[in-house]
Amino acid sequence: MIEMTEKIAAETWSDVEKMRSTEEILIPSDPLDRVLGQEEAIELAKIAARQRRHLLLVGPPGTGKSMIARALSMNLPAPSHEVRVVENPENAERPFVEILDREEVEKEEALKSEPIGVLENPEDAPPSVAEHLGYRCKNCGKISQPTDLSCPFCNYSKMSGGGKGNPFQDLMGNIGGLLGESVGQLTAGKEKVRTTRTINGFEETVIFERAGDKIRMLDEAAIDKRSEISRTSNEKTLVKLNRNPFVLATGASETELLGDVRHDPYGGHEKLGTPAYERVIAGSIHEAHEGVLFVDEISHLGDLQRYILTAMQEKSFPIMGRNPQSAGASVKVEEVPCDFILVAACNMQDIENILSPLRSRIIGNGYEILVDIAMPDNDRNRAKYAQFVAQEVNLDGHIPHADIEAVKLIIDEGKRRARDDNQPNSLTLRLRELGGLIRSAGDIAVMEGAELITAEHIRRALRRSRPVEDQIRERYGSYTSGLSKDVSSAQKERSGYYYQTDHVDDSMFS
Ligand SMILES: Nc1ncnc2c1ncn2[C@@H]1O[C@H](COP(=O)(O)OP(=O)(O)OP(=O)(O)O)[C@@H](O)[C@H]1O
Ligand SMILES: [Mg+2]
Repeated sequence: MIEMTEKIAAETWSDVEKMRSTEEILIPSDPLDRVLGQEEAIELAKIAARQRRHLLLVGPPGTGKSMIARALSMNLPAPSHEVRVVENPENAERPFVEILDREEVEKEEALKSEPIGVLENPEDAPPSVAEHLGYRCKNCGKISQPTDLSCPFCNYSKMSGGGKGNPFQDLMGNIGGLLGESVGQLTAGKEKVRTTRTINGFEETVIFERAGDKIRMLDEAAIDKRSEISRTSNEKTLVKLNRNPFVLATGASETELLGDVRHDPYGGHEKLGTPAYERVIAGSIHEAHEGVLFVDEISHLGDLQRYILTAMQEKSFPIMGRNPQSAGASVKVEEVPCDFILVAACNMQDIENILSPLRSRIIGNGYEILVDIAMPDNDRNRAKYAQFVAQEVNLDGHIPHADIEAVKLIIDEGKRRARDDNQPNSLTLRLRELGGLIRSAGDIAVMEGAELITAEHIRRALRRSRPVEDQIRERYGSYTSGLSKDVSSAQKERSGYYYQTDHVDDSMFS
């Protein structure tokens, strides 16, 4: 049974103290309000979303950089354009780009979802039409399916020419199929017939065509509509209108980042191959059009940073086959739009490996922010910590909420960790790791069948979550003596390596 509790925003610690558990805490709907601390980064993220500026977030792991980038994208207006590649009848290897706005895409979808023409029973169609389409027997006038090659009522052949049913007809059909003369199932009559009719003194073209066991009739309006729809049959949607405005490009390869043209073993052969435009694939930079391109550990992209720089300058980037051995290599689509907001992240040591023109681009049209590793320990931020516990429980989905005594212990631990970072009277923002503490306390609570995470669960999780170096120190007296014990006598004989740890100072590991 699901219990409905009224949720309350945790503004100050006194709000939290009135609660029984973090279950009562209202989690903010704006993802930017779910980020603890990082006030400056959040303010700049809001500006970036509004003014389309780039961001560089610098700081240690697990402090909310990815969270901020994602939240920024959710503050952007929904994408308003769809990008397509269109066949170029003059030169198949140079497909065109087509950009449609929301109104055009929605109009087209509405058109496609409407039924076209009217369906009627073959009995009700003009007899000559029903005959031509293979439903009506020329001999007895009875109706059967076009897949019946001769009339099941009088055995008269429905194939052109007529006459008595040829006993080898089916066999002949099969051989035809084997020889590749006919593709698909052999049927009597034609797929569609075009004729004219006169309505109110005007003559108009109508098309009758097979539609299973019915006949579809298209008048002139329906024919126009169909040709409007088939106009789009020689194009492929590259970047959909309804898409996620957050695109992750972490550790991306060149083709993932910039797009590609798939190989075709038939080299785009007119009949056997897949046309070039259908083999074009968008890169992350194109998918991020109108949204956020998030590049974690940007310096690890190395040379690929140059392409990002060009894409940012031009706001468009060609897609071409990137493997010179592939049949895709000769295909190129010019000017595929990629107007994204770049949010890049890295840690402090890697700043110098960011390409300097790229950094200058970010500074020239955006902001660089050093994220905080702690926030002041005050009533408001303690309440935020309680909100954080509620968020992590929600996110995990497998652990119960925490009672208020447990939250107090998590706050104490957050304070202790901030002190380790030389931030006195603060609460740590290295929250991924603190989330780990909540999860392992939650696991203990689950194994016990407890309804809530309690202070005791937190205490046990704290003991359990000690770094393995600390555990070695406790068991063996010091880290080094632990290392020397961790080898079998056989290993000791084979290598002297493990004895050389004698000179290692224990403080190196603390
Ligand atoms: N400031 C924060 N506020 C709330 N939750 C946070 C914060 N920082 C980290 N977390 C929690 O830790 C998780 C990891 O954070 P995130 O991925 O944003 O870190 P990061 O800074 O991008 O780390 P990395 O440098 O390793 O990519 C988040 O999903 C969230 O659960
Ligand atoms: Mg991250």
